[in-house]
Amino acid sequence: AIDPQFNENREKVGEENGVSVWGPVDEPEQLGIRGTHVAVDYDLCIADGACLEDCPVDVFEWVDTPGHPESEQKAEPTHEAQCIDCMLCVDVCPVDAIDVDAS
Ligand code: SF4
Ligand code: F3S
Repeated sequence: AIDPQFNENREKVGEENGVSVWGPVDEPEQLGIRGTHVAVDYDLCIADGACLEDCPVDVFEWVDTPGHPESEQKAEPTHEAQCIDCMLCVDVCPVDAIDVDAS
């Protein structure tokens, strides 16, 4: 499961589409955690898609990640500023790749 303390345990190494990237990153096999309030561990995400389907305010967008061992698409929390902290995405992700920090 995603480390809920990722922002203390990892270094922010950049941004993509306005979303923070928390390393380590070694593309294309290792992509790190993306987002801060709504965070997705790309190295766990298997592109299940439940988060995109269920989010009531459409926080997530698909991004292509060719060559990643788990899946060649990931759910980017592109619009994390819209999040209403309903926690649906956290509940539905089959691999516990999402952390929402409601505080
Ligand atoms: Fe969307 Fe709710 Fe997840 Fe926020 S907590 S990203 S509103 S599903
Ligand atoms: Fe990925 Fe979990 Fe969403 S596997 S696509 S973060 S439901």
